[in-house]
Amino acid sequence: MVITIDGPAGAGKSTAARRLASALGIAFLDTGATYRAVTLRAMRAGDDLSDAGKLAEHARRMDLELIPRSGGLGVILDGRDVSEEIRTETVSRNAHHAAGSPEVRGVLVELQRRIGRDLGNFVTEGRDQGTVVFPDADVKFYLDASPSERARRRSDELTLRGEPASPQTVLQAILARDESDAARSVGPLRPADNAIHMDTTGNSIEDTLAELLQHVRTRTGWEAV
Ligand code: C5P
Repeated sequence: MVITIDGPAGAGKSTAARRLASALGIAFLDTGATYRAVTLRAMRAGDDLSDAGKLAEHARRMDLELIPRSGGLGVILDGRDVSEEIRTETVSRNAHHAAGSPEVRGVLVELQRRIGRDLGNFVTEGRDQGTVVFPDADVKFYLDASPSERARRRSDELTLRGEPASPQTVLQAILARDESDAARSVGPLRPADNAIHMDTTGNSIEDTLAELLQHVRTRTGWEAV
């Protein structure tokens, strides 16, 4: 069973994917963490992030473990817990270098497929999961929300983590990421042809989860455990 959830930053994919996976009793894969890990590894090495060859080398060499934890995902990079560090605004802002490189994407797509094979049944979220990485997925979703709501959610999240930023500042960063996500030639952000579109603006996570579960039940017969 493979369920993909794609969509722009702040659409609620991570929480939705985690909650859906937990409701169905299956695994959860956050593919943004793979791009963030490459970015962080290159930043730590002091490498020029616009050097795609260097970034691809980091992608090939990194030892990345994604461990499900209650309320989140443990990310272990080369033996060190970087779960918090990969979520900082600096990494978010710099991730477009890795995301925009066809060479890096090639390595990470293979890594994601390998993780998927090991997981067996899983919900995966990102930008290209239904289009490129798992085109034969059983159910594909495309989650979106208005830019102002996405900025508000992201700003709340940053405040909780002690990195307060105004919704206006976050909105600009989000619009910039939307543009680079949609414009890249490899793995651009777009809904798969057979994706179910959901707009989560104004919805609680409970509403979104119920709607996701309803679609999964209708299409596959799988129920919440
Ligand atoms: O989803 P998240 O914000 O953690 O993703 C971090 C970055 O990785 C995003 O800016 C996005 O461009 C990129 N990404 C991607 N393809 C994916 C997942 C994330 O290009 N499947």
